[in-house]
Amino acid sequence: MSQPILVTGAAGGSQGSTGRLVADLLLKQEIPVRAFVHKLDARSGELRQQGAEIVAGDLLDPAAVQAAMKDVKRAYFTYPVAGGLLEAAAIFAASARDAGLELVVNNSQFQGVPGDPAFRDLRHAPSFRNLQHRLADRIFDWAQVGAVHIQAPPYYENVRALVSRSVAEHQAAFLPWGDGRAVIPLAGAEDVARVAATLLAQSGRPGQNVYPLVSETPSVGEIVEALGRAMGRSIRYVPISDEQWAQAVKERINPHALDHLSHLWQFFRKSEQRYQATDAVRVVTGRNPQTFEEFFRANAKSIAGAQ
Ligand SMILES: NC(=O)c1ccc[n+]([C@@H]2O[C@H](COP(=O)([O-])OP(=O)(O)OC[C@H]3O[C@@H](n4cnc5c(N)ncnc54)[C@H](OP(=O)(O)O)[C@@H]3O)[C@@H](O)[C@H]2O)c1
Repeated sequence: MSQPILVTGAAGGSQGSTGRLVADLLLKQEIPVRAFVHKLDARSGELRQQGAEIVAGDLLDPAAVQAAMKDVKRAYFTYPVAGGLLEAAAIFAASARDAGLELVVNNSQFQGVPGDPAFRDLRHAPSFRNLQHRLADRIFDWAQVGAVHIQAPPYYENVRALVSRSVAEHQAAFLPWGDGRAVIPLAGAEDVARVAATLLAQSGRPGQNVYPLVSETPSVGEIVEALGRAMGRSIRYVPISDEQWAQAVKERINPHALDHLSHLWQFFRKSEQRYQATDAVRVVTGRNPQTFEEFFRANAKSIAGAQ
């Protein structure tokens, strides 16, 4: 493949760093990567050293996005949990249409599975952010740019961010997740990236237009037990109210993310839905998905030292 693959979010960020992981996976296969970064810094410097072509710009700037698509046929789109998703998706989709892209792999969010009557239904979005993803997916479909949507539930990385400090300081996870019986579907950002990179690297069209990607369906109690096993010590789950949680995290996450996550926790707490793991990772990559416990074992040291 001689034309570069355009990878947005390529410097990585505070969520799953999926763009960074996609760029790494493609570069390892010696596939040319045009890395779209928000700004030039140490992260973009590393990417350049790895062999990526760097373009710096704002996904909300049509001129920057159009310039980045020159001589590109395939692209990975990801946008942080912050305001502007719909504008960025529309700019990216319109620019991809004008540039004649054949494949856009879009990092979306979980919206149920095929066969579920609520699958992709706008009325069933658990948060405004999730509704924006449902609309962004449609914008990409309407643009006819060969869009494929990866729809994952909360990432393992998100749980790590939520619990690291309290586990390190108090051997406890303080979360507004109810009495411990709620089920929280999860997936690893590494698997999201592996699926995306595989679809981008393979010749021809992906087999599906939507890949719901659920790797695990643990209850809150099971999440905390797995965390304890991975850390080699007992971790307590301490249920707190939505208000206590919002108060504790409001300095660390932006208002858009706070709104999204608050609604998501309320949704999972009340949900009667029975989630099932999907086979997307195995079907696309030929490998089993990473388990939650494997992820926590791999990250135990950084969690233990979190401040
Ligand atoms: N976290 C979860 O649990 C989860 C679960 C399912 C789906 N998702 C979806 O995954 C997406 C986030 O994916 P991710 O893990 O790749 O995000 P991430 O780790 O937060 O990375 C976001 C990247 O986008 C860049 N960026 C931010 N604003 C930009 C702008 N205006 N123009 C250009 N680049 C910009 C950031 O650069 P700077 O750092 O330099 O600003 C960063 O490199 C969201 O759409 C979210 O809804 C997340």
